[in-house]
Amino acid sequence: MDFCRTPFLLFRFRNTTFLKSKSADMKRKYFARFISCKNNRYFSAIQRDPSSVMVAGSDGACMSSDCSSHWSDRFLSAEDADVFRTLKSDCVVYGDFISVEEENTLLTEIEPYLKRLRYEHDHWDNAIHAYRETERKHWSEVNKSILNRVKSVAFEQTEIPLPYTHVLDIEKDGYIKPHIDSVRFCGRTIAGLSLLSPSVLRLALENNKTKYGDLLLLPRSLYIMRDKSRYEFTHELLPSEKSKFKGKPVLRDRRISVIQRLKPDDEEK
Ligand code: OGA
Ligand code: MN
Repeated sequence: MDFCRTPFLLFRFRNTTFLKSKSADMKRKYFARFISCKNNRYFSAIQRDPSSVMVAGSDGACMSSDCSSHWSDRFLSAEDADVFRTLKSDCVVYGDFISVEEENTLLTEIEPYLKRLRYEHDHWDNAIHAYRETERKHWSEVNKSILNRVKSVAFEQTEIPLPYTHVLDIEKDGYIKPHIDSVRFCGRTIAGLSLLSPSVLRLALENNKTKYGDLLLLPRSLYIMRDKSRYEFTHELLPSEKSKFKGKPVLRDRRISVIQRLKPDDEEK
């Protein structure tokens, strides 16, 4: 999603803003999932013909100016240059993807279900410590529209999301050990909203764990992991005592994530 270095042109036609680029590679690779935030509105792009895309906002608004995004300056940290490059291109974190009100409407729907469950501890082989979780298929209209906004940003139009949204609640002392989501259950993209508490998600190269990068996940942010970041890196949610970003402590508390995934690749069609 590196738009900063690729020239493109935005122009308006009959109330719709189009984006034009001479780079075939950019069109092929990025246009179908073009997304940026401008004044807290989210814009996604739909490829219309080989030379243009329609850029539509989450609230029906259209893009009318430069939309380069510099997400990696704020929410990505990695000492290794290759790791930084890979994570910058194959994952993204949007701060304030949802409003405080939207966070509350999600919590209002989720909490009654979670409260019936007990936190799971002490299973030595569990990938997650001090957690409870549920999966939800049907949502209120307002929450459905939030989740649809996530899908429109994270997934391409031809991709099929899993029908269930995963809700994971971890306690203040909870954490997620390094793992890669099973390819049997999940396709190339994972998209998670973080609620309540800030946290740090560490992505480490599976075949060289000394190489890693950290994502800062503030409450109400959205992270998306796809392709290499999803298949070649493990991800883990750091426990409270290790929760640091760029050297600064990130105070952990109870955290809830609302995760949407794609259907496994072999089931897509
Ligand atoms: C998982 C996972 C991350 C999160 O449930 O597999 O990695 O943001 N969750 O909670
Ligand atoms: Mn996972």
